[in-house]
Amino acid sequence: MLTDGTANTNGKNGGHGDVREVLVRDLPVRIFHWSLVAAVAVALLTGFFGEENLLTVHVWAGQAVAVLILFRIMWWFVGGRYSRFSAYPLNPRRVMEHLRHVAAGRSPLLAGHNPAGAWMIIILITLLFGLTLTGIVALGGEEDLGPLRAWVSYRLGDAAEEVHELLAWLLVAAIAGHLAGVFMETKVFGHPLLRAMTRGTMPVPPQDAERGSMALRGLVVFLVALGLFTVVWNGLSATPDTRWRQVTYIKAYSDNCGDCHHAHHPSLRTADMWERIVRGLEDHYGEDATIGKRNEEEILAFLKANSAEFFDTEAAVRLGRAKTKDLRISSVSWWKMRHENIPQQVFASPEVGSPANCNACHGDAETGRFDDAAIRIPRKAQAAGGQS
Ligand code: HEC
Ligand code: HEC
Repeated sequence: MLTDGTANTNGKNGGHGDVREVLVRDLPVRIFHWSLVAAVAVALLTGFFGEENLLTVHVWAGQAVAVLILFRIMWWFVGGRYSRFSAYPLNPRRVMEHLRHVAAGRSPLLAGHNPAGAWMIIILITLLFGLTLTGIVALGGEEDLGPLRAWVSYRLGDAAEEVHELLAWLLVAAIAGHLAGVFMETKVFGHPLLRAMTRGTMPVPPQDAERGSMALRGLVVFLVALGLFTVVWNGLSATPDTRWRQVTYIKAYSDNCGDCHHAHHPSLRTADMWERIVRGLEDHYGEDATIGKRNEEEILAFLKANSAEFFDTEAAVRLGRAKTKDLRISSVSWWKMRHENIPQQVFASPEVGSPANCNACHGDAETGRFDDAAIRIPRKAQAAGGQS
């Protein structure tokens, strides 16, 4: 009697006598599968093709993936007969045997997963686990958001994003492999895998049936996964932010330096650069911007106390501390690279006026955060640039 999930009939009525359409995939694993498909699709689409301000949606999708993966890992231990990790035929010898069978043109119908399929599940879940982890590190470091924002430096977040991207490509390749495997099993060998993952049934001997739909247990395990994730995410996110803080602008600065352009966040230049800017106001990009000695000292003290050296945000690291010849933020090559797709007419439009008016497009420019979610090019300015 075969009870370890490997019982098989060779094809549709392969000689083991009694073969019936019986339940082989518990309900939670089927709901998990299709929810994961949806969440991963949204994450991949927003990750590869989304505009910057879709990051919020990307993170929602990533959170959904994280909860689902957490659920699935727990389900490996308490799930249905064939959902359990212990039911996977992972032994390399079994894999080789399976591949030999496939090469010879036959693949027995199994109620459980075949060795190639079991390994594919592990590869997919490992990649998704790595993607959520590197995603959270990148989100914390680069965007100063999420549970790790207080601990991960901008540079580390930047490195994590590179790994995140690499893993995303590997995931795309693994999904292609998974689809190819399913296609092969269904079209070439006639195994109704799609039906197994929707209705949950397959024509196998009745003794190979799943124990039951396990809906209630699945719901409980899902709620535990959701609760665990929420508590950890929110708990860590509540730790004080050490890499960014709110700066209260002094009146002298807003009044005197927010007149011709918006008053730039102090973290966008180093103390040394601010000194040179404020000491050279007689010839400020061709304008006389002198403001009187008292104002000058007060403003300089404010700028130096909140300069780029005191922040570990993307704007402070990439723009504030970057070397430039003429002291302009907008002459930093990273700034140019990030804004190269914006036509000159957009900057020249009345709604923006100049690249110096960061706040025209960055709703949070005043905070120095420059979050992706706060980027909005004014509609009229966009029309001026011909990108309606
Ligand atoms: C009389 C008008 C005027 C005043 C007042 C003024 N600026 Fe400017 N500022 C300009 C102009 C014009 C530019 C060049 C803008 C451009 O390149 O489009 C500029 C550019 C800048 C830039 C570079 C922006 C970029 O594009 O990267 C900084 C930084 C800056 N100003 C700081 C200050 C500070 C600090 C003060 C107050 C002490 C100040 N400005 C007051 C006219 C002014
Ligand atoms: C005409 C609108 C516009 C203006 C003005 C503008 N930006 Fe941007 N900025 C954008 C857009 C759009 C993006 C996203 C580009 C992309 O898709 O990578 C961006 C991206 C950025 C980013 C990266 C954000 C992230 O998290 O990826 C930073 C930092 C930034 N801008 C800083 C500035 C600063 C500082 C100024 C002013 C000196 C400025 N920008 C002026 C439109 C603008």
